[in-house]
Parts: sequence; structure tokens; C-alpha cells
Amino acid sequence: MSNPFKFGSVVENNFFTDRINETEETKNVLSSSNHLILISPRRFGKTSLVNKVTNSLDRPVIYLDLQLVTDVPDFATHLLKKVLKIDKWENIKHLLANFRLIPTIALNPLTNNMEVSFVPTSSNNFTPLEDVLNLIEKIGEKGKRPIVVFDEFQEIIDLSKTLPKQLRAVIQHHKNINYVFLGSLESIMRQIFETKKSPFYHFGYLMTLKKIPYSDFFDYLKTRFDAVTDKSEILSNEILVFTQQHPYYTQQLAFYCYSFLENEEYQDNILNSVIDNLISMHNNDFERLWNTISKTDKKIMITLALQEKISSIPQPTSTIYSGLKRLLTKGYIIRDEQYELDDPFFKKWLKGKINE
Ligand SMILES: Nc1ncnc2c1ncn2[C@@H]1O[C@H](COP(=O)(O)OP(=O)(O)O)[C@@H](O)[C@H]1O
Ligand SMILES: [Mg+2]
Repeated sequence: MSNPFKFGSVVENNFFTDRINETEETKNVLSSSNHLILISPRRFGKTSLVNKVTNSLDRPVIYLDLQLVTDVPDFATHLLKKVLKIDKWENIKHLLANFRLIPTIALNPLTNNMEVSFVPTSSNNFTPLEDVLNLIEKIGEKGKRPIVVFDEFQEIIDLSKTLPKQLRAVIQHHKNINYVFLGSLESIMRQIFETKKSPFYHFGYLMTLKKIPYSDFFDYLKTRFDAVTDKSEILSNEILVFTQQHPYYTQQLAFYCYSFLENEEYQDNILNSVIDNLISMHNNDFERLWNTISKTDKKIMITLALQEKISSIPQPTSTIYSGLKRLLTKGYIIRDEQYELDDPFFKKWLKGKINE
């Protein structure tokens, strides 16, 4: 049997656990005429959840990760490439004739993919993107309702100042598309969707994704560890205590424990030796990270690592607040129930440093 744990990329089928209510909720929104906004820290499972739901529906899905997009015309190019994948060329060809800037499209015989390029007048030119979005709406008018997923949507803030407003002006008229906006930066996502003066104010149904509940994750781990040890209960619990049910780190740690148990017998200190091994693998990254942050941010990270109160830091509240915001933006800390360090391995590394 191959290792039943997976971390880093989208998980589905056997690697995906729980999220039963969230799956249902996502499905319900997508079968209504509403748009969906899904927020959580990085690596909590947004992409996996939406991928699972959209795969289960017999509808065209256009998925675009905005981290790949470099400017506004590039956004249009990426999107059009995806559109060309969901429908037959014959069905789309005549619609492209209405474009104000005609794209160059060529079949790459090596990959069998369509290569697309616009020759826009400037890096802020919105016209190609508007035309592509309206093209998707036209496809929706004729056939099944497309789902357009914009992953890491907070990135649009950096593409162009006017983009949110322009985007909203076009897609608010679309009646045959469900838009899904995923975001890993809660503060920016809330700024986009929850502040009154933002063009996307209350644009859709807002959902937040939490960590996977203990009992579901426990069962998931235990049944898989049963194949390699009779100490599966103890081990599963210890893993979850260490990772605090963080989806990604739990799968990562479980993966390495499982690898270990495939080759060696269970020992009482197995968890610690796997953890210490992982920490020493990342020692350089941790050092580098630590050296790039400010004194205030270090103080905050240490306080969180030791699970002490933020308010105990002898600095003005505003200074602490800016520090927290900076660390959230970098993804070094997350806010689930409360502020905590994102990476349990880094947390242990840091505690080791403090006690050196
Ligand atoms: N439902 C789930 N069950 C088990 N593991 C999950 C689940 N969702 C996410 N994970 C773990 O978290 C990792 C990151 O998931 P991903 O969907 O890429 O998160 P996000 O899009 O929020 O960054 C996955 O590779 C997997 O290890
Ligand atoms: Mg993602």
C-alpha cells in the first residue's frame, strides 16, 4: 500500500476528509444564483474543497489562480486559455469575432493546447478582460451555467488600482455565471468584500474555513495508521496535539510518520524523532525567516510560541497591532480562534532557540 497521506497540492478522494457541512454549503451556493467568497489562511483546504465540489457538478468550470497573473491583459490571456478548454473551438470561434482586440490564437502541436495572446495597448488595458468575461456569460446563456473560480483573489489589489471597480462593473451584469472568490489573506479579502466603499461590498455569500475538527481528523489518521502499527490511536492523537489540526501540517507529519513505520517498528519516541528530523531539514529556512523580521515581530512570535498573552508585551497597542497585521500578511501567524503561529515545526524550532 502506498503512503495514504498527501500534503502540498490539492487533495481529493481518499486524501480528503470531512468538510461535509462546508461541501453542502458550497454546493448550495453554487446551485443558486449567488456568488461565493471563501476565506481561510493558506493551506487550510480552500482550493481542495472547491475543486471537490465543482468536480461533482456537471458544469463547465473555469479555474484561475491569480498568483500566476502579472498584469491586466495577462489576466485576460490566462482566462481565455481556460475558456478554450471548456468548450469546442467551433462553438467559441464566432464569439471571438466580437472582441474589440482580436487575440492571436494558435494550436501548439506539442501540447495540443491553444496558445493565446493579446497585443494590448498598455498593461492596464481592461478591454480584453471585459471581452473574455462577457464571452463566458454568452457561453452560459446557451448551455450549462459556468462556474468561474478566482483563487488567491486578494492578488487583484496589486494588479491595478482600478481593476476591482472595472471588474465589478462587468460581472454584476452576469446572470449565467457563478463566481467563486478564494482568498488566503483575510484582512484584504474582508476589505474587498466587507467594506462599504469597496466595489465588491457584499457581492456574494461569505464563508470561512476553519481547521478540520479533531474527531474527524483523528478517525482519518487512525484508520490509515492501522495498516502499519497497533499504536495508531496514540500516534494519531499525538500528531493532532502537535499540529493543532492544521490540515497541511497534519498531513505532512502523518506522511513522515507513516514512511517511518513502513520501514521500522513503532517506538515510543517516534513522533519526536520525526518532528526533529523535519525541523533540521528546515533549519536554514527558519534561520532565514527569523533574520528577516523586525524586533517587534520577533517579540510577537516568541510570545505566541510560548502561548503567552499578546497584551503582556510592553509596547504600545498600535505597534503590536501593526506587527500582527504584518505577520498575518506574511502568513507567519494565523488567526483561527485566536492568534497563533502558522507552522508548528517553526514553533518548536523557536522554542528550542529560546531555551538554548
Ligand atoms: N479536506 C481535507 N482533508 C485532508 N487534508 C486536507 C483537506 N483539505 C486540505 N488538506 C491538506 O491541506 C493541504 C492544503 O490544501 P489546499 O486545498 O491547497 O489549501 P488552500 O487552498 O487553503 O491553500 C493539502 O495538500 C492537504 O494536505
Ligand atoms: Mg489554494
